[in-house]
Amino acid sequence: MAVSADAVRAELEAVLEEVKAALAAADSPDAARAAAAVLLGKKGALAKVEPLLKEAPREERPKLGKALNDVRRSGEAALQSRIEALEAAARKASLAGPPHDFTLPGRGHRLGSLHPVRLVEQDILAALSSLGFEVADGPEVELEKYNFEMLGFPPDHPARDMQDSFFVAGEAAGEAAGEATGGVVLRTHTSPVQIREMLSHPPPVRISCPGVVYRRDDDVTHSPMFHQIEGLLVDEGVTLAHMKGVMTLFIRRVFGADARVRFRPSYFPFTEPSAEVDVGCTICGGTRVGCRVCKESGWLELGGCGMVHPVVFENVGYDPERWTGFAFGMGVDRFAMLRYGIADIRLLYENDVRLLRQL
Ligand code: PHE
Repeated sequence: MAVSADAVRAELEAVLEEVKAALAAADSPDAARAAAAVLLGKKGALAKVEPLLKEAPREERPKLGKALNDVRRSGEAALQSRIEALEAAARKASLAGPPHDFTLPGRGHRLGSLHPVRLVEQDILAALSSLGFEVADGPEVELEKYNFEMLGFPPDHPARDMQDSFFVAGEAAGEAAGEATGGVVLRTHTSPVQIREMLSHPPPVRISCPGVVYRRDDDVTHSPMFHQIEGLLVDEGVTLAHMKGVMTLFIRRVFGADARVRFRPSYFPFTEPSAEVDVGCTICGGTRVGCRVCKESGWLELGGCGMVHPVVFENVGYDPERWTGFAFGMGVDRFAMLRYGIADIRLLYENDVRLLRQL
């Protein structure tokens, strides 16, 4: 059935008129897009005109094809200008409304902050890394062999009582870890990392090890889970003076350049001589009078340290006649409490954001 070229043109005209009317009626950019899609889209009114072209006289077809494309293009241009007009009108309307007050405070996005323990840990590690200490790592569930035996605590050694341990039930736990060693504990200190490091690397060694440790303790100054940073330096000709220098440096990095530092003789099975290190009380500034934090002593204990015991070197296969070294273990939570004046260690682990927001 033949269709005249004029009839096709009339159809195309009609579609374009329809598009214009629909766009004029649309009251939002989305409505305009939807209306245009219905008419100009794949199954729209325009698409329905297309088959008629094949029935028009052959010589007219190219012109009609062009006319169809013109209608599509005009329709799309009309859609674009309608969207722009609607958006401009919306902007104008919003400006005509109640005046904008550009001086109102904005709605801020709260930025999180690092936990006090993490902040102090970063400072200590930064000071140590500036001296060439590399961070080493070890497991929190540790073989008793590494946590005690190889550090010079034999099974019945009274020093094990210093560290009330959480033991993991059964010898099988150790065997499951691939070693017929006996027991497994939640590590009571980061010192087993010393052993692991020395067993796996020849001297010299210079490592720091931050991590979580566990002891059966729970009161205002003790949490069953807390943080330590271990340090170990092994080389030829290392002396106590090196140890004091390194420790004084990072303690002052955290507490300020004029912080007072002192070393007191102490005992650990894996160091000889051993010391405990104190910082001048940051709460009373050393005046002591009535200070409950330092119990009027003027000093606060931060951790233990000492020269690596020759027995430890023997246990890991280092020649104790040749190698010397020092080690230390610091309670990071204690550092954080002192630096930020937090009186109860448990506040650090209650997940109360009010604590973090003060930093
Ligand atoms: N590991 C000891 C403790 O947790 C501290 C320490 C580390 C002491 C290294 C000396 C040398 O109590």
